[in-house]
Amino acid sequence: MTDNKQKMLTLRNGDTLPALGLGTWLSRPGEVYQAVRVALEAGYRHIDCAAIYHNQDEVGRAFADAFRAGDLTREDLWVTSKLWNDSHLKDDVRPATQEILRQLQLDYLDLYLIHWPIAFRKGVTTARNPEDFLTLQEAPLEDTWQAMQALKADGLATHIGVSNMGPVRLRLLQKAGEMPAVVQVECHPYLPQTALRDFAAEHQIIITGYSPLGSPGRHNLGEGEPHLLSDPVILGLAEAHDATPAQILIAWALTRGTAVLPKSVNPGRIHENFAALQVNLSGEDMARIDNIGTQWRYLDGSFFSPPGSPYDKDEIYI
Ligand code: A2P
Repeated sequence: MTDNKQKMLTLRNGDTLPALGLGTWLSRPGEVYQAVRVALEAGYRHIDCAAIYHNQDEVGRAFADAFRAGDLTREDLWVTSKLWNDSHLKDDVRPATQEILRQLQLDYLDLYLIHWPIAFRKGVTTARNPEDFLTLQEAPLEDTWQAMQALKADGLATHIGVSNMGPVRLRLLQKAGEMPAVVQVECHPYLPQTALRDFAAEHQIIITGYSPLGSPGRHNLGEGEPHLLSDPVILGLAEAHDATPAQILIAWALTRGTAVLPKSVNPGRIHENFAALQVNLSGEDMARIDNIGTQWRYLDGSFFSPPGSPYDKDEIYI
């Protein structure tokens, strides 16, 4: 049964966004079209995309077909995308954005994020050598942020924000104009982002959590990584609520007032994850999860620190 109950979050300017969205990182072309169509039919109204996911053409076809089929209108949908690291220089931001809009077959994005506080030379997808990078002196984030603000002023994006950044960078960007409206970061019970959450509450910034299920689908899954979906606390609560572990993790994120982006290309799991909107966790349940004990960041940024990189992985998320 499709249940269209949504939970909305209010942004600083009073606009609202659907708290539960579909993640599309690692959703392969050939799979993601159907995933988006199924999600829209299930009731999702928030789809999270990025230039670097290399699947936006197919996501765009799913949007166009869903609009044509009358499943929903453009105004019903919240679409986020992200500027890739190779387009941070001020003259590169707009053409990169226009390409994203072309791929997604949209006139505007609801939310546009700087994907990482890391810059690459134009055309670099994955930086493997020191010369693939630009330093933050060569490509200051403040300049990129000013170009993002210009896109917003011109209506290419209704809201702008950042990803993979913390209070230090957010303050820096505020000095270059406006405070980001949204910050998207890895967030789950092993990485609850407590300090950032306090900062965000103070500045009316919405936090959106990626990898809410502990990112079990990564090809480079590390040895010895804790498996969030089978944590005993999560399993215990799943049993108590007659819910699945994924639903408990999504409900935890929603109860904390964050937006959350579980990725799936599997129709059953897409529906299952959406049904987490019906799971009500008590204060006691939340406290049990908050006291889970394990601390873990699944995406530790080491992929941006090959030998000779100007970026130190321990200073990415500040
Ligand atoms: P699939 O796309 O085959 O459903 P995260 O959002 O933390 O990155 O997790 C995404 C990974 O978790 C994907 O590998 C996805 O696989 C899987 N996944 C998505 N939903 C569920 C679910 N309800 N239960 C178990 N695994 C899930």
